[in-house]
Amino acid sequence: MEEIILVESSRDNISGEVSLSGAKNAVLVIMASLLLVKGKSTLKNVPDSADVEQMIKLLTSLGVIVFFNKTINTLQIDATNLESYSVDHVTMRKMRASVLVMGPLLARLGRINLTYPGGCVIGARPIDYHIKNFKRMGVAIHEEDGLLTATTSGLKAQRLILEYPSVGATENLLMAATLAQGVTQIVNAAIEPEVLDLIAALKQMGAKIDIISPATIVITGVDQLNPIIHTVMNDRLEAGTLLLAAAVTGGEIVIRNMSSDHLDVFLFKLEEMGHIVKTYDDIIAFKATKYPRAVSFKTAPFPGFPTDLQAPMMVAQCLAEGTSVIEESVYENRLVHALELQKMGAQIKLESSTRAIITGVNELYGADVIATDIRASAALVIAGLAAQGTTQISGVNHFRRGYDGFDGKLRQLGAKVNIIQINSANLVVNKKRPEDII
Ligand code: UD1
Repeated sequence: MEEIILVESSRDNISGEVSLSGAKNAVLVIMASLLLVKGKSTLKNVPDSADVEQMIKLLTSLGVIVFFNKTINTLQIDATNLESYSVDHVTMRKMRASVLVMGPLLARLGRINLTYPGGCVIGARPIDYHIKNFKRMGVAIHEEDGLLTATTSGLKAQRLILEYPSVGATENLLMAATLAQGVTQIVNAAIEPEVLDLIAALKQMGAKIDIISPATIVITGVDQLNPIIHTVMNDRLEAGTLLLAAAVTGGEIVIRNMSSDHLDVFLFKLEEMGHIVKTYDDIIAFKATKYPRAVSFKTAPFPGFPTDLQAPMMVAQCLAEGTSVIEESVYENRLVHALELQKMGAQIKLESSTRAIITGVNELYGADVIATDIRASAALVIAGLAAQGTTQISGVNHFRRGYDGFDGKLRQLGAKVNIIQINSANLVVNKKRPEDII
């Protein structure tokens, strides 16, 4: 038996209010940051997703006590008895965010053994920015047969330069620096809202962190950090994807508890398409236009257009009037979903692995398609909602990694979408799927 997502046309059906889950990209790193602390911390608003389960397994394998109460989305983490510093290859390959334990383990135990997270379908995704800067902080890194052994007799505060504002490198270095003696600066740091949520959690633990305009994070090391109770921020990417589900089906929805300044450029682009977006405090009210216009956009680090919303935004361009140019500047191979959308009747010309030209069509049609990464899975779901007929999506594991009950939220809004078990012999789609590590 195999799971697929079965999506039926849901045009003119999507309406109502929906609540968001906690942000995957914030919770994973905040979980890793609790390796820095002795004592029991509590995280609230934790999404029940496969990646959270994977991070729980990783922390547990290091000797951390973790308890996840899924009924109230609360996680308790106690790393008092942290003993191991080795992360195995299977864990590293399953989830790129595994690399985020590097900074905390170096700070707390002075060592870590790990392997490269590896390449994946959306791009090569090396960790050279992490490694170069850990070396500057006094970490000796030895590599043999793909196994990295990193040790330090004490992290040194430094002025660290990122050649690109990598989210993961910023987070890893930031966590390490909280317990390094002296003042560390991270220049050209990522300032994604999820990084700011990590900073809020670290400050609550007692870390001394300031942000200097435009993007330098200054950390003054302290001797120890203390347990916290922290509520994880809501998921702006889930919010964006729900808005796009409404956009492509002619819907009208209200999202609460989402700061619109986490999505400024994205919301601006929705308005440029002709959709009505109204924001009040932490409420976003959205009404789709019946005649969406195509818009071009280029992904960029925050506050630019988020790469994680590029795939679902592409679906909206497939059904808009006119021509759109999409440039993916963050990853070198993140347009793979275009091939699946073509199977549904989309007119997409891939000029390169980072540039797509889309000519809007009146209709998409249900097809058997393959989700190859987390965000592509959500994009195909919303394409299915807008398409005539039935869409069958395989690669459900990707969908489960990134979202907590996203299909249920769509059903609550009126969408016809279900995850079902089918006999894998009935699957028409190609069974060989690339692995993704996000
Ligand atoms: C995080 C998010 C992911 C999002 C991405 C960009 C998590 C768990 N994941 O991933 O959803 O798509 O930010 O917003 O938070 N790079 C290097 N060398 C490095 C590090 C990165 O070349 O050492 C490159 C990457 O290959 C990529 C780009 O920099 O092309 C951005 O990557 P980065 O910001 O580090 O993304 P992640 O932290 O992995």
